[in-house]
Amino acid sequence: MPDVTAEAARRRTFAIISHPDAGKTTLTEKFLLYSGAIQQAGAVQSRKAERATTSDWLELEQKRGISVTSAVARFEHDGVVLNLLDTPGHRDFSEDTYRVLSGVDAAVMVIDAARGVEPQTEKLYAVCKARGTPIITFVNKMDRPTPDPLEILDDLEAKLQLMGLPVTWPIKPQGDFQGVVDRRTSRTYRFEANTPGGARIAQEDLGEVDGVAHEVQEELELLDAIGADVDLEAFLGGIATPVFFGSALSNFGVRLLLDAVVELAPPPSARLDVEAAPRAVDAPFSGLVFKVQANLDPRHRDRLAFVRVCSGRFERGSTLVNARTGKKVTAKYAHAVFGRDRETVDEAFPGDVIGLVNATDLRAGDTLHEEESPVTFPPIPTFTPEHFATAHPADRSRVKQFRRGVQQLDEEGVIQVLRHEQLGDQAPIWAAVGQLQFDVATWRMEHEFNAPVRLEGTRFDTARATDDAGVEALAAMRDVDIYRRENGAPMALFRSRYVAERIERDHPEITLTTLVLG
Ligand code: G4P
Repeated sequence: MPDVTAEAARRRTFAIISHPDAGKTTLTEKFLLYSGAIQQAGAVQSRKAERATTSDWLELEQKRGISVTSAVARFEHDGVVLNLLDTPGHRDFSEDTYRVLSGVDAAVMVIDAARGVEPQTEKLYAVCKARGTPIITFVNKMDRPTPDPLEILDDLEAKLQLMGLPVTWPIKPQGDFQGVVDRRTSRTYRFEANTPGGARIAQEDLGEVDGVAHEVQEELELLDAIGADVDLEAFLGGIATPVFFGSALSNFGVRLLLDAVVELAPPPSARLDVEAAPRAVDAPFSGLVFKVQANLDPRHRDRLAFVRVCSGRFERGSTLVNARTGKKVTAKYAHAVFGRDRETVDEAFPGDVIGLVNATDLRAGDTLHEEESPVTFPPIPTFTPEHFATAHPADRSRVKQFRRGVQQLDEEGVIQVLRHEQLGDQAPIWAAVGQLQFDVATWRMEHEFNAPVRLEGTRFDTARATDDAGVEALAAMRDVDIYRRENGAPMALFRSRYVAERIERDHPEITLTTLVLG
């Protein structure tokens, strides 16, 4: 019987967060190349090509040129099992993006050196910060014209209040990128731009840079003087981030980054339950459902629940309990999922992600546990929605199917359904973090529930979560309405961001938050 503690210790579960076009896809591909999972790297690459060409993949995906599937890549590096969870955080930004982050122990933040910290990076970083997820930073596209590296560190500090501790430092005198120096060992790595189609692996073994320019020496001395060395405690505490410089496209600096994920990212550790009691990794099996996806792939018409193993050994065929409902779930069909391809798994350990097929009762945020050893993990926090629409059945004869569909999509977390205190089910508001969620929801309503939807704009543009006292205080105010989620949680909807900010300023006693629990 494998030792659960030892298996957990050799796992790293992480995500890559970035703004669109910073280089997340390219970096993922290079990580997979290093791990020898070249075929899988092909899968990543072809995903982009597929957007234009596939014949049988989800219509919606083709229409919009987006990817709504969540991929989990699993590969080995230096004897460590790496689980890389794809945050669909691109143009297809949605609540799922946030949820995926509840399944990881660390994140790699990719920044385009020329563009610095961009808005989507800020949003994703906020989630990591709220969860205390440690961040390793990769400053990408160093082969292109970039600002002074010290300015890049200042940008991290200014926009994210995150202290950048450079592990490597670019050798770029007068804008000529020659390589990086590893500040821990003083070893230099020579950069050579990739020729298109040329070998893109092991670039980093090209050898040392001959002599480091005077100005770079000065920068290095300055860094030493201010003591900008990696501080493990500050990193794990989310105050500081180790920074690496490189070029994903040229496969430069990638290996050092991957080594850092293995060395610095924390392995799975005890997870706190709703009562803040730690669930040790070697306790009996428990897992967190962080995402549920249904019927999207015509090749697999089913529901797939993504479960992050938190403790114990998962065994295919075992009977588990859903903590929310008390119902049993038989994990007969468990898969490792990579993009659209699946592989049956027989066992999994803390840090691993499994896809449970047709576990119809599961919702994002559910806890699964072994029968004799119950546990419930806290709900997954998300942020208040930013898009709102009133949903009507386009076909009045399909009202029943419409209601059923809306309920189902709400339960799955595809959209949040908000009901007015008085109007109730009359005209529920659909709310979402990303516009794409509406597209997925209307597509599924039409194709899966045979209940086409007519969406209409609302007068709201900002939401805050509140509590019962807040409901009372806000009732008399103008330009704000109270709606409730399916679980009864009140949500204040405002005419404009300005109104929300004014009320927040004038009434600090009212609970108004952008973080939504459960
Ligand atoms: P994303 O997943 O974060 O959206 O970014 P992606 O990897 O798709 O990269 C966005 C663009 O940036 C791509 O170019 C990619 O080739 C380029 N890129 C990534 N890393 C580097 C780098 O280190 N240096 C330079 N110079 N470019 C880089 P594209 O033309 O938009 O797409 P493609 O046609 O090459 O796929």
